[in-house]
This record gives sequence, C-alpha cells and structure tokens, in this order.
Amino acid sequence: MKQSNIEILMKEDIWQLIGKDWMLITAGNSDGINTMTASWGGIGWLWNKPVAFVFIRPERYTHEFVEANTHLTLSFFDDSYRSALQLCGTKSGRDCDKISAAGLTTVAIETDVYGFEESRLTLQCRKLFKSQMNETSFLDKEVMTKWYNESPGGGFHDIYVVEITKVYV
Ligand SMILES: Cc1cc2nc3c(=O)[nH]c(=O)nc-3n(C[C@H](O)[C@H](O)[C@H](O)COP(=O)(O)O)c2cc1C
Repeated sequence: MKQSNIEILMKEDIWQLIGKDWMLITAGNSDGINTMTASWGGIGWLWNKPVAFVFIRPERYTHEFVEANTHLTLSFFDDSYRSALQLCGTKSGRDCDKISAAGLTTVAIETDVYGFEESRLTLQCRKLFKSQMNETSFLDKEVMTKWYNESPGGGFHDIYVVEITKVYV
C-alpha cells in the first residue's frame, strides 16, 4: 500500500465507486477491528476540507468501533472482491471472523488505522462530525417511511462526516 496524492480521487466516478462498487468502512485499535460494507455515502468538500460522509446504523457492530476510535478507513476493491464485500455486508463481526472468511488481510496503516492488503484504494479518515437522524428532520416523509418504517434494516442511520487525511493505492 503506497501513499498517493488526494487528486487521484478526481479520476474516480464517485457514484460508481460508492453506490455501485461499494466500500468497506473499517475502524479499530489493538483491542479489535471490525469492518462492514457500505454503499450509501459520498465524497465532497466541506469546511474547506476534503471529506467523506457515511451513514451507519447504530445496530451495526462496526458502529461501536467507529464510536470508539478517532479514525476510520474507506476501502475500495476491484470486481474480484465482490463476494468478499457481499459477505462483509451480510454477516456481523459479532458472530464470526468475517475478515478472514472474506479472504481479506488486515494492514495497520498507522496506530489505530487499519486497511486491507487487497484494497485498490484506501482513504484514511478522521471523524469531524456526527449527527443522528430523527423523524422531524425528514422533509420528505415518504423517504423516511420507505427506508425506516417499512424496511427491516434497523433504525435511523448515524451520519458521520470525516476528513480524508491520506490516500493509499
Ligand atoms: C451493498 C451493501 C451496502 C450496505 N450499505 C450500508 C450502509 O451504507 N450503512 C449501513 O449501516 N449498513 C449498510 N449495509 C449493511 C451492513 O454492511 C451489514 O449490516 C453488516 O453485516 C454489518 O456488519 P457488522 O455488524 O459487523 O458491523 C450494507 C450492506 C450491503 C450488502
């Protein structure tokens, strides 16, 4: 894994990268690491910083690790890892060692910052902001009904805005 310039992200189609190809959100420290697949989120510019925003339901085991650490990583893979991402998006780290089951190899990038050897692109991120969605914030109630009342997926997502501090390829 080699550090790269953040401008490398300009070559990526962000909608494809996150929405179609998916990513792993990973956080942890020497006590433990967890990861989960995510396809909701974005990359942009806020508070004069390059940022990403991710949406994590409080039920996810990964949520505990994101809460407990200052940093997280967003890892992107080529097509051959689709089934690994599918696994990390359907199994919980509470129940199994899904990182090994997915055939992924954890790499310590810095203290308490972890990525994967197999990833083609990794964003090291520092948490800047967290907000909890709530019913009154939904201006379009149909969106809320569709995704939270009718969906068995769980409660409102927590929104995290993170600063992209380093990029690795
Ligand atoms: C394609 C895909 C995208 C997902 N996107 C998200 C997401 O953006 N936010 C979220 O909270 N869960 C998302 N999930 C669900 C989690 O990845 C899933 O619940 C996972 O098993 C959580 O693992 P954990 O309990 O080990 O954290 C997604 C799952 C898949 C398959």
